[in-house]
Amino acid sequence: MVQFNLPKNSKILKGKYFKDKTGSSNIKLVHIYRWDPSSNENPREDTFEVDLNNCGNKVLDILNKIKNEIDSSLTFRKSCAHGVCGSCAMNVDGINTLSCMKSHKEIKGDLRIFPLPHLKVVKDLVADLSALYRQYESIEPWLKTTESKLQKKEIKQSKKNREKLDGLYECIMCACCSTSCPSYWWNGEKYLGPAVLLQAYRWISDSRDEEKKERLNKVADKLKLYRCHTIMNCTSACPKGLNPAKAIGSIKKMLATS
Ligand code: SF4
Ligand code: SF4
Ligand code: FES
Repeated sequence: MVQFNLPKNSKILKGKYFKDKTGSSNIKLVHIYRWDPSSNENPREDTFEVDLNNCGNKVLDILNKIKNEIDSSLTFRKSCAHGVCGSCAMNVDGINTLSCMKSHKEIKGDLRIFPLPHLKVVKDLVADLSALYRQYESIEPWLKTTESKLQKKEIKQSKKNREKLDGLYECIMCACCSTSCPSYWWNGEKYLGPAVLLQAYRWISDSRDEEKKERLNKVADKLKLYRCHTIMNCTSACPKGLNPAKAIGSIKKMLATS
């Protein structure tokens, strides 16, 4: 029988334990994935005792508190803290989400925080999104129209056409959906994945864009598009309540009827 072994350095070891120094009676145990590429050591899971009496409600508040008061080497991405920039996406308690939007009060017991799954890790909670951004660039996410039109001040859109972008323009490219998609896990180099396909559909649906046909042809590929098997993980994972699976279905339908 074939036996699979994980490479030695992929094993997550038990890490450091940071005891509370405040004497608080309201402590949350927070387990966090740590990995430092410069250390040559295996990844580990550190545990922090965090005083919730002096902490905001969101998971990001916990991370900020740990970084400011307990271990300044903890590395994670964040910017807006209001669910707008998408940079604080990570895996919290087994679910991909935005740490600035996720309330830790909803999580009973210990809290476990990992980077977005199935991506290379840059350091600690920072996942490497460069491949996803290259795929995003490949769909040319900007308005394509003739130069003469662009020189005019504005390109008007009817209310009805504008409404076609609802549920699409709100995407903040956080990658929670793509990194929860099994097809993207296994074929991420070729399959565009739900985040990029939703963005592709956003431009295909824009009445002001003049390259709808070219855009459709560009994604009409066995690997780029049809690796989606309608598993729907992407839609359940989206912290903005969007429906990338539906967008992918709409592209497939357009291709089938064009
Ligand atoms: S519906 Fe498609 S894109 Fe979404 S999780 Fe399933 S396979 Fe991935
Ligand atoms: S569709 Fe949702 S989960 Fe996917 S990238 Fe956009 S905002 Fe994030
Ligand atoms: S910090 Fe911007 S979405 Fe969370």
